[in-house]
Amino acid sequence: MSWTFPLSERVRNLKPSPTLAIDTKAKTLKAKGVDIINLSAGEPDFDTPEHIKEAAIKAIRDGFTKYTPVGGIPELKEAIAAKFEQDYKLTYRPEQIMVSTGGKQVLYNVAQAILDPGDEVIIPVPYWVSYPAIVELAEGTVRFLPSDPDKDFALDLAELGSMLTSKTRAIILNSPSNPTGAVYSREDLMTVAALAVEHNFVIITDDIYDQIRFDNKGPENIASLVPEAQDHVIVVNGVSKTYAMTGWRIGYLAGPQAVVKAATKIQSQSTSNPNSIAQKAVLAALTGPQDEVLKMKKAFLERKNYIMERLEAIPGISCVKPKGAFYVFPDLSSYYGKKAFGKEINNSLEMADYLLEESRIAGVPGIAFGDDRFMRFSYATDLSIIQEGMDRLRVALSNLNS
Ligand SMILES: Cc1ncc(COP(=O)(O)O)c(C=O)c1O
Repeated sequence: MSWTFPLSERVRNLKPSPTLAIDTKAKTLKAKGVDIINLSAGEPDFDTPEHIKEAAIKAIRDGFTKYTPVGGIPELKEAIAAKFEQDYKLTYRPEQIMVSTGGKQVLYNVAQAILDPGDEVIIPVPYWVSYPAIVELAEGTVRFLPSDPDKDFALDLAELGSMLTSKTRAIILNSPSNPTGAVYSREDLMTVAALAVEHNFVIITDDIYDQIRFDNKGPENIASLVPEAQDHVIVVNGVSKTYAMTGWRIGYLAGPQAVVKAATKIQSQSTSNPNSIAQKAVLAALTGPQDEVLKMKKAFLERKNYIMERLEAIPGISCVKPKGAFYVFPDLSSYYGKKAFGKEINNSLEMADYLLEESRIAGVPGIAFGDDRFMRFSYATDLSIIQEGMDRLRVALSNLNS
């Protein structure tokens, strides 16, 4: 008798992370010797700074290899609190901080901690790929809030106001944004904070790119702008992007003590503490010299300027100038309906496949972020690779004819 392994409805409904899937496909082709220009990765190409690695090596040598407190070691929580004070003038006690295995796990724990079935979570589109899945895994209901590239993907406050119901539990903000690089204006954030206080919902602010901003403002977040709303705000951050530490898997959360306690309880029954050695490394990252961070930021700015210049020179592309993070999100939909090598391109998935197969450029289709007109390219890679990628993109698009 044949046996179908029983899998939960939850996992059967779950889509794997599309960004990781494309990155894996690109890496597999590369391993086979195909000359791929990989602009799909969501991670800095830089190595983790040396003093951070040294702290980890020291932690191993010192035998700091055992379980730690579930929500993180006290000295790291203190360093995180000091960073919040320094960056945002926000005061948090150690009981208001939790350290986790990456910002992703923080978001997962928070969703599990605050959502009951049917609770609504508002997610502005385009969104980071994992937000809807994380909400749905907690049996929340996602409500998408569209935004307009002609308005720099600003929050549509009128629409937001009209979406609020008695079931609205939270909104997830991500500024600077992955995938658009947009940064929300202070005025708009202040309006959202006022709405949250008036309508009793939670603001989850994912600040993972807050140190990578090109507009000489910030870092800032909604709680730093509206201190009266701090009780409604859950701040998510981490070291993956700022310190080129994606593989170390440390993220953290600051917020009201009740949610920190609840999210830590989830963590205690799922993963226990985040990696002990990585926690020591992050302590060195947050308290040590920041010059490598500034160097990386300078490189991202240079690359952003270059890639924008190249995109703007390609006919039929429009692209909002990013104000932070390390992605561009060009609208390629004017090429939809056109053909190359007998293949017609009608959506972002077909565009991503065409670019990968015919031109060997890996980018992420906009549909993964909720908008099929776009493609996301990461410029967290060497300038020479970006240059080759843009050369190939120009040729690939010029080969598309009606
Ligand atoms: C917007 C956003 N939030 C959170 C994360 C999660 O980062 P990590 O789990 O590596 O801390 C990412 C990573 O791609 C991201 O782009």
